[in-house]
Amino acid sequence: MQALIVYFSRPGENYSVGYIEEGNAKHIAKVISKYTKAPLYELEPLTPYASDYKECVKEAVKEAKEEARPAFKNPLADINKYDVIYLCYPNWCGTFPRIVASFLAKYDFTNKIIKPMCTHEGSGMGFSERELAKTLPTATILPGLPIKGSECHKPEIEETIKEWAFKLTK
Ligand SMILES: Cc1cc2nc3c(=O)[nH]c(=O)nc-3n(C[C@H](O)[C@H](O)[C@H](O)COP(=O)(O)O)c2cc1C
Repeated sequence: MQALIVYFSRPGENYSVGYIEEGNAKHIAKVISKYTKAPLYELEPLTPYASDYKECVKEAVKEAKEEARPAFKNPLADINKYDVIYLCYPNWCGTFPRIVASFLAKYDFTNKIIKPMCTHEGSGMGFSERELAKTLPTATILPGLPIKGSECHKPEIEETIKEWAFKLTK
C-alpha cells in the first residue's frame, strides 16, 4: 500500500501558545512520516492566511460562510499511485479549513483510504469526518485522530500517533 501524507498547517500566532514557526498539524504530519516513511505533501495557500490569530479567524469564518475554494500553490503531480492518504489539518470553525476542500475537489479519491488527523483546541475532529464522508462518498474514511495543538510536542503523543497510523481498518 502506497501512502501519502497531505497536510495544511499555519505558522504564526497560534491559540494559547504565542507565535510558532511550524504549525501543529505540520509537526504531527512529520511524526506520521517518521514512522510510516510516507512522503509529505504540503498544501500551501496561494494567498497566505494572516499571521495574526484574530485576523485569521475572520478570514476563516468568511471562507466557511462562502464555502470558498481558495487556491493552493503546488498541485500534486500524481495522486493515482497512492492508496492511503493521511489528511492532516487544524480544526477551523468546527471542521477542516476550506483550502482542504479545494484539495479534495481537485482529485479523484475513489477507492482510496483517508485517514484524517486534526489538531484542535477543544473541538476535537469537530464535524470534519462527517464532512469528509459527504465530500468523498467513494472513498473510505477511517476514524480520525484528534490532537490538541498545544500538546502536540509531548513525547508520549508519538506512541498514540504510531498506533493510529498503522491501523488501516475501521
Ligand atoms: C481560524 C482558526 C479557527 C479555529 N477554530 C477552532 C475551532 O473551531 N475549534 C478548536 O478546537 N480549535 C480551533 N482553532 C485552533 C486550532 O485548531 C489549533 O490551534 C490547531 O492546533 C492549529 O493547528 P496548526 O498550527 O497546524 O495550524 C482555530 C484556529 C484558527 C487559526
